[in-house]
Amino acid sequence: MNILLFGPPGAGKGTQSTFLVERLKMKHISTGDLFRAAIKNKTSLGIEAKGYLDQGRLVPDSVTIGMVDEVLKNNGRSSSVILDGFPRNVPQAEALEKLLEKHDMQLDRAVFLEVPTNALVERLSGRRTCRGCGTVYHLQSKPLKNGKNCDVCGSTDVYQREDDKAETIKTRLQVYSDSTSPLKEFYSKKKKLVEIDGQGEVEAVFLRVREALKS
Ligand code: AP5
Repeated sequence: MNILLFGPPGAGKGTQSTFLVERLKMKHISTGDLFRAAIKNKTSLGIEAKGYLDQGRLVPDSVTIGMVDEVLKNNGRSSSVILDGFPRNVPQAEALEKLLEKHDMQLDRAVFLEVPTNALVERLSGRRTCRGCGTVYHLQSKPLKNGKNCDVCGSTDVYQREDDKAETIKTRLQVYSDSTSPLKEFYSKKKKLVEIDGQGEVEAVFLRVREALKS
């Protein structure tokens, strides 16, 4: 089963993907993570993408679609896939249809995580990420157990994403509203849309997602 997990910034796409990977052995493809890795490694893709991520704007479609094409090619249909953060606008969704056909794959569900804006701002501004292993924390809802080291790898380098600063959060929410929210209608027309309440304990949200994948 291949699914798309979408929703506004901070809706919990990455958090729920971690559960799906651990418990359902799905493969996580996050365009945000791919761009951040490219930036960290200073590749030509990273150099091109950095300004867009720092400003909370979308990387141009041609770059993003080419990157996803490459990842799907390398996946070789070996496992069920979670697409997180792609597509992010209607042209990307149309491109995805062609990519899936090219790689002999299909999209089974487009799972939308619904969270109100005030909760999104709280989640994003309190998010912290371990630079060592990528584990995601939150100052209130998921703090570091000993307040200093990553619970998983022990690194002390737990940082705030550049795009989680107040001004950039505002831009990202606007970009979401303008470009990404029309995907609800796109996937509803294709009878692939499942809407999930993304509020409450992460485990409770996961149970809703899992139920939606069964139906
Ligand atoms: P990306 O990394 O995809 O960012 P995003 O979509 O804005 O999503 P986030 O990673 O911010 O949030 P999330 O929904 O994964 O939430 P999380 O689980 O971490 O993209 C970054 C940038 O890359 C874009 O701005 C753009 O520049 C570029 N980009 C990416 N894809 C692109 C594309 N297709 N085209 C063009 N450009 C692209 O949770 C957030 C916080 O909330 C965490 O602290 C977590 O612990 C907490 N939390 C999660 N669930 C709960 C819960 N149930 N209750 C309480 N707290 C919770």
